[in-house]
Amino acid sequence: MQHRAGKAGAGDPINAECHALKIAVKVTEAWHKGGGPDWPEVPLGVVATLAVASLNAEPTAGFAEWVQARSPAEFFALARLVWRGVLLRQPDVVRMAAPMLGWLGDEDEKFADRVKRTADAALAAGQVELTTGDRGFDADLLGPVLGALRSPAAAQVNAQMYTPGDVACALTSVMLGDLRPGQVFCDDTVGTGGLFRAAAQVIRGRGLNPATMTWYGADIDELAVAAAAVNSLIWQLGPNVVLYVGDPLADADWSATADRQKAQFHEQVDVLRRVLAALELGNTPI
Ligand SMILES: C[S@@+](CC[C@H](N)C(=O)[O-])C[C@H]1O[C@@H](n2cnc3c(N)ncnc32)[C@H](O)[C@@H]1O
Repeated sequence: MQHRAGKAGAGDPINAECHALKIAVKVTEAWHKGGGPDWPEVPLGVVATLAVASLNAEPTAGFAEWVQARSPAEFFALARLVWRGVLLRQPDVVRMAAPMLGWLGDEDEKFADRVKRTADAALAAGQVELTTGDRGFDADLLGPVLGALRSPAAAQVNAQMYTPGDVACALTSVMLGDLRPGQVFCDDTVGTGGLFRAAAQVIRGRGLNPATMTWYGADIDELAVAAAAVNSLIWQLGPNVVLYVGDPLADADWSATADRQKAQFHEQVDVLRRVLAALELGNTPI
């Protein structure tokens, strides 16, 4: 990662990483139990949904138990509510996360049971403790989940394809010199954003707010980029996150392309909002 131009998480980062791997294994086992198509985007989207839903939850308040007690149909309704909220506040996150959200509209009974079983496995493995509030800063949960789901032996997983968190933190704390608000960070093989997480922790540790920085990330893997988009919420990277799906070697100016794509999307959202208001569909969630 290149960089141009407080407070660390409350928990123990090494334990948080182990915990993330454990959740990844449990999620992958639950998803593959009983067979069915691979569709890694679905369990990844389920874990992402629980992560976003639990961002502001208090783990002691029984959120996990409450979700576990929901029927599959109720879980789908909750998931739609969660993403509606994100769409209203940060539509660009939904644009980038879309490849892992297609399942929200598919409520075939067997499929819905499989989704709910996977969510329950993540919750039973303690996902809420890992993704609530500042605890979410301590690990990249979606990286190991995607790595496990992509592993050739996906049913008996022990795989992680991204830079381990402690290595990422060591790398970034050495690489990052003087820091000031407004700096630009860039990773052109961003994966699920692990180096951004580590950089954000260094930034917090120096009393600055990562949300005041600009973050550019590219990757050829659209699911990894989708996970990076959700991670940008979990890690509170702020509004200036610009992600790009593609090969930076084929577009040397990819960050400008990504800026353009993001700006065009926001223009289209504004037009759509005006049309919806004119049609008196103002409550439509966009
Ligand atoms: C080892 S991971 C590193 C991810 C992240 N930077 C980290 O340290 O955790 C390598 C990433 O590079 C991506 N990748 C491989 N070839 C690429 C290319 N030509 N353009 C963009 N991304 C690429 C892969 O999809 C993968 O997510």
